[in-house]
Parts: sequence; C-alpha cells; structure tokens
Amino acid sequence: MQIVLPYAGIVLLIGPSNSGKSTLLKRMIEKREILPSEVISSDDFRVLVSDIEFIDWRDRPKDEADSLLGDYQSISKEAFSMMDSVIDARCRLNKLTFVDATHLHPDDRKRYLSLARKNNVPIISIVMDIHEDELLIRDEQRDNPRGKRRIRQQYQTFKKEKRFIKKEGYMSVYTIKETDNLEFNRRSNPI
Ligand code: CTP
Repeated sequence: MQIVLPYAGIVLLIGPSNSGKSTLLKRMIEKREILPSEVISSDDFRVLVSDIEFIDWRDRPKDEADSLLGDYQSISKEAFSMMDSVIDARCRLNKLTFVDATHLHPDDRKRYLSLARKNNVPIISIVMDIHEDELLIRDEQRDNPRGKRRIRQQYQTFKKEKRFIKKEGYMSVYTIKETDNLEFNRRSNPI
C-alpha cells in the first residue's frame, strides 16, 4: 500500500494499544523516512510531565485500580495539553507531525481535526486494524503490558468507532492490517 504524506499538517495514528503505532513510526525513523522530532507521542509526554513510564494495571484490587486510574487520568490530561500546544505550534510553522496515541474516542480525534482546520493544514489518518487475539498475544510478550482487560475494552471501542472514521473529515484514511508492504510518498511542497 502506498501512503501519501502531506507536506505539512497532522498524521493521526489510530488504534488500540499493541496495534503497532510506535513500532511503525520507529521503523520509519530508522529508515530515515521521517525525523524523530516529527513524532509526538502521548507516552513520551506522560513521562515528561510525571516521570512515570508505566503503570502496571494487572491483578489490582478494584479500589487500587480506581485510584491508579485517577492518577493516570490527571497525568494524561496534563500530557495531552502540553502535546497539543506543541502540535499547534508545529502546524503554525507548517511542519508535519505524526501523533502517536490511541485516538479511540471521537472527542480525541475531533480535537486534531479542529486544530488542523484552524491552522489550514491537512490531516490524514492511519488506522491500525489488528485482530484482538493478536493484540492480546503482543501484550503478553511486551515489557510493559497494558493488561488483558484494558486491551479488550480498547478493542471493543475501536470496533465500534472504526466505521465512523472515514466520514470525520480527513484528507485520506489508510486502514492497515499489516505493516510489511507500506510505501510512503511524501509531498515535497505544500500544494
Ligand atoms: N509488536 C509486534 N508486531 C508488530 C507491532 C508491534 O509484535 N507488528 C509488538 C511490539 O514489539 C511491542 C508491542 O507489540 O512489544 C506494542 O507495540 P507498539 O508499537 O508499542 O504498539 P502501540 O500501538 O504503539 O501501543 P501503545 O498504544 O500501547 O503504545
């Protein structure tokens, strides 16, 4: 599949945890298809604002899980606020930015559609459509697992949301089931 990247604007990655968003972007950086500074990741911004790299959600009693969720939501709110200012600045400067977060909830996606519209830059989305069983297998194998319950919840949200994404107003939507045969064609001027 050939993916046409705009000269400037936003590339919104969409997909549950373990769908391979960060892996794809890392591979593009290694192949020098994009610059490291073109990737803005919610995981990195959570660390920047809170020093916390990873919360282990597995096997927690409910009250502990609820308290952790409260912490996580406060951290995420600050992280996204910082991240959105950086993306806004990059759009104003006519830069291309890949946004690496799950973007499963419509409001999260709408924020970036509005940001792109406000700055008069294009926005495209890359939807990582990976089967739930594969997401769960990858979760077991990764260093910082998100936990089965969370992956299943995210997958259900993704399944419900994916039909709406095409109509939300992106310049293009690329739905990816595997990343082996991707070819990126980057526009070399704003037109
Ligand atoms: N992974 C894999 N095969 C792929 C892509 C990812 O086995 N084709 C593995 C990675 O090695 C990693 C895990 O799945 O151990 C999560 O990959 P990542 O790219 O970080 O997924 P994200 O979608 O970015 O997950 P998150 O939203 O949780 O950051």
